Amino acid sequence: MSDLASLELLAKTELDACADEPTLRAWNTKYFGANGEVLAALKAIGTIAKDQRKTYGQEANRIKETLTQTYDAMLSAAKERALDASLTANPLDITLPGRPVQRGRLHVATQIMRQIYDIFADMGFQVYRTREVEDDLTNFELLNMPPHHPARDMWDTFHTTTPGVILRTHTSPGQIHVMREVCPDPIRVILPGMCYRYEAITTRSEIQFQQVEGLVIGEHVTMADLKGTITAFARRLFGQERQVRFRSSYFPFTEPSIEIDIDWPKEDPNADRLTKGTGWLEIMGAGMVHPVVLRNGGYDPAKHSGFAFGMGPQRITMLKHAIDDIRQFWANDVRFLRQF
Ligand code: PHE
Repeated sequence: MSDLASLELLAKTELDACADEPTLRAWNTKYFGANGEVLAALKAIGTIAKDQRKTYGQEANRIKETLTQTYDAMLSAAKERALDASLTANPLDITLPGRPVQRGRLHVATQIMRQIYDIFADMGFQVYRTREVEDDLTNFELLNMPPHHPARDMWDTFHTTTPGVILRTHTSPGQIHVMREVCPDPIRVILPGMCYRYEAITTRSEIQFQQVEGLVIGEHVTMADLKGTITAFARRLFGQERQVRFRSSYFPFTEPSIEIDIDWPKEDPNADRLTKGTGWLEIMGAGMVHPVVLRNGGYDPAKHSGFAFGMGPQRITMLKHAIDDIRQFWANDVRFLRQF
């Protein structure tokens, strides 16, 4: 019994002297750890003579309880003090401005596409999306270019290992898809999307680029409608005072075919370079849908007529922002992209 009393006195004195968490934990190991002295006293209960065992056991457990309670209370008080100290020693200055968040933005190509969609939406055009992987039939044949037709040379093609499956070289095959879906109803759509050409990469051409195709089909659609639509579009995009010029050209899927130029402001210091001294700048190819193509789409050329056009929005963006290298569009250089 006197052993227990002195154990309690010693343990209590040492506990009272503990000032922080590490000393408290060391104390706990000394008395309650695997070889702890209080623990040993508890284990000894079985070895005590029977007549003293009960009193001894009760006393040992009481000591254990008291010490544990005091220890727990002191430990949480010590933690509390340590936290208080660290908060006052390193106060959190909530008046500091936060780190600036980098704001994202739309890619310049997306911006121009959305401008183009807006302008055509105002004229009643819907956006129609079609596949980027095409078959030879739709990309060429149904557009009036049979195999070995020399006009195919205008489109350097990426072929896949599956014969007849290619990456579309222009958005024009989309014309066939819309016509076959919508026929015999009238059509007024734009077909935007990525196209691919297997050609040398230069500052003016890339192996991948976007196009925006337009297709209008109905009864009594004429060249005047084409001219009016494109003029309205060009003036909305480039300025109300722009002059638009139509030159005759050739595409197998339109007849007659034209190329469309806009005049470039002479005041612009880049005017000469952009227009190669002519004052005119090409923005797209177009024409009246060829009767063969109409028929391939399911329409009767005796009853229906239509016009189509195709432009390269990257080229248009280059004009608008005086960008001199088309490769910048997909190079993902943020120093370039941040400018728009
Ligand atoms: N598909 C043609 C090209 O890629 C452009 C075009 C579209 C021309 C529609 C006429 C009509 O060059």
